[in-house]
Amino acid sequence: MKHTVTLIPGDGIGPEVTAATVRVIAAAGVDINWERYPAGAEALGEYGTPLPESLMTSIKRNRVALKGPVTTPVGTGFTSVNVGLRKALDLYANLRPVKSIPGIKSRFENVDLVVVRENTEDLYSGLEHVVVPGVVESLKIITETASTRIARFACDYARKHKRKKVTAVHKANIMKLSDGLFLDCFRKVSQHYPEIAPEDKIVDNMCMQLVMYPEKYDVLLMENLYGDILSDLCTGLVGGLGLVPGANLGDNIAVFEAVHGSAPDIAGQGKANPTALIMCAVMMLNHLGETDAADRIEKTLFAVLAEGKYLTSDLGGHASTAQYTEAIASRLEAEREAEEAK
Ligand code: NAI
Repeated sequence: MKHTVTLIPGDGIGPEVTAATVRVIAAAGVDINWERYPAGAEALGEYGTPLPESLMTSIKRNRVALKGPVTTPVGTGFTSVNVGLRKALDLYANLRPVKSIPGIKSRFENVDLVVVRENTEDLYSGLEHVVVPGVVESLKIITETASTRIARFACDYARKHKRKKVTAVHKANIMKLSDGLFLDCFRKVSQHYPEIAPEDKIVDNMCMQLVMYPEKYDVLLMENLYGDILSDLCTGLVGGLGLVPGANLGDNIAVFEAVHGSAPDIAGQGKANPTALIMCAVMMLNHLGETDAADRIEKTLFAVLAEGKYLTSDLGGHASTAQYTEAIASRLEAEREAEEAK
């Protein structure tokens, strides 16, 4: 079956990792019609806006997108394309599975966490203003509706994937109203899931727990900001930002993107590790019902990583993005040819 998927190459290392991912998907034999759109600074020049209407229309029509990272200028400049996209499409759940990969050296070998991050509110409301010169106010918005919705998403996910525990992460000891509401919603929702152990942890303690005992945790439920920060922390537990995929999910709409950003320090040098985005493709293919291709890509990717011959420099190797990608793609093609010859 042919699928149509919106593709946002992004900037920085985005074009390199998306090209690698498109190559691997094609090598696995999945027929995808990619609708490519720029976003961010590149779109600003061409369309006069960092988030063009034609891009939004394409995602709304296709209901599925694969997105490379997009740079957000610090301080002044346009607001985040990533935040804008999530809000405009109501992609309220950010799902980030963080799992140890066999053969990849990291401090732990047994990490199997899922970060569920609320994607639409919190300090990402973008509501900031100058009260008087030298004093700014930034508004943290937490609503019962969004908190209940994301708590239900986390518990449903745990139930569906036979996970045992959901830990809500908060700072309700200090932000008694906002984080208090978030926690309260979780406690109410979790009562309807008797098979799942509900737990909560204050965010500072959670950071310590994760870097010492990650194996004790299962599904982690967080507001937007804690989810952003702790997701990066969690990638560090399994080998770094180059390895962890993610999905932004709404009702019947999905945008798949890695946890990492545009990595301007290595952009254009052929050094980027495309694993995270290829793992996003695995999630996306499962979402599209292409489970056989998803399994083959994951298996081949893990085999190439475990062999250790074609590792990118973030994993201690010397392979370029293209060499690593070809190692995976050529193996997938050879397997398909062997299968067809039978
Ligand atoms: P970053 O994730 O881009 O990079 C952090 C460090 O990890 C860098 O040293 C980088 O070289 C390394 N790294 C990241 N991904 C890698 C990969 N695939 N392979 C090898 N090394 C990798 O975070 P940073 O530098 O804070 O952000 C850069 C830009 O990306 C900012 O403008 C930020 O707003 C944007 N960003 C965009 C995201 C998105 O589009 N979803 C997510 C996070 C940040």
